[in-house]
Amino acid sequence: MSKVQQQEAIDIRLVEVGPRDGLQNESVNLDVDDKIRLINLLSTSGLQNIESGSFVSPKWVPQMANSAEVLQGISRKPGVTYSALTPNARGLEDALAVSSDEVAVFAAVTETFSQRNTNCSIQESLQRIETVVKQSLAANIPVRGYLSCVLGCPYEGSVNPDVVLKMAEQLLEFGCYEISLGDTIGVGTPVDAANLIKKLTEQLPVERLAVHFHDTYGQALANIHAVLALGVTVIDTSIAGLGGCPYAKGASGNVATEDVVYMLDGMNLNTGLDMSTLLQANRFITGKLGRAGSSRAAAALLSIDS
Ligand code: HMG
Ligand code: MG
Repeated sequence: MSKVQQQEAIDIRLVEVGPRDGLQNESVNLDVDDKIRLINLLSTSGLQNIESGSFVSPKWVPQMANSAEVLQGISRKPGVTYSALTPNARGLEDALAVSSDEVAVFAAVTETFSQRNTNCSIQESLQRIETVVKQSLAANIPVRGYLSCVLGCPYEGSVNPDVVLKMAEQLLEFGCYEISLGDTIGVGTPVDAANLIKKLTEQLPVERLAVHFHDTYGQALANIHAVLALGVTVIDTSIAGLGGCPYAKGASGNVATEDVVYMLDGMNLNTGLDMSTLLQANRFITGKLGRAGSSRAAAALLSIDS
């Protein structure tokens, strides 16, 4: 039996979004070498999916302006998917030019957030996405779809789960292989999160759904726990809990990778990740940013270590 076959099967797949969702909202603009070092550290922790940058307008998100050099400079570990966010055909072209293994498209489920984040209506954003998905699949590059504001919008308040369902169906029809459900401003509670998953899984296979919780109100781990019970097995996380959202005032970072791994370990759910390497990545990135991260597990484990 090969070494790979002997490895334990992974129960829960984490999609690391720190180098993109995290760093896009940090005031310190990391240089290319530091981003590369972060991504290389993350890949040695066992992470199989790392969102490594985004090809959006640098006027809108200057922190991601060096994504091409980052994607070109990383040491690609076999088996790891290095993906990039692409809002339009231009972004896709740029992502493919630097051999992104996968791309991600994104749409908001409310009109106001759609305008603020992508300068277009929901309908226009879906048209852009359809083009990107078509072109990407024609180049044999898989596409992941994000929906933002699924549990609440900073401008419009509560969100109807039927709208989320309709848009998720639409993105899957276009050809996205998975839909990541973003609680962009972290307002949802475990009851809201579970109700959304129940609603969506009346029509869609749970295997096509991932969750993307920001931890603004401290609900992210509880939300994850609630949706694990409903069969969700893909979770977006960010090293050290970096980030937020430039178009969602007050939104804090994604749930921290280290906290999710700690909780899942305690539930005997295998992520295939090595905590000590995650802690190295935490130490590296918080040192570069000059601020503590938001991971409670990392803070506790590092304090024992020191
Ligand atoms: P626009 O201004 O309407 O676009 O922006 P445009 O087509 O009129 O172009 C304007 C300028 O941008 C032009 O340059 C274009 O060339 C340039 P100029 O002539 O003024 O010098 N441009 C580009 N440059 C580089 N790469 C591109 C690109 N496209 C146009 N791909 C656009 C429309 C979508 C481009 C803009 O609104 C944008 O970049 N938005 C991105 C915003 C963003 O990145 N938000 C954060 C990511 S989403 C998120 O974080 C949520 C998520 O994590 C899930 C969750 O938490 O909910 C995914
Ligand atoms: Mg996000």
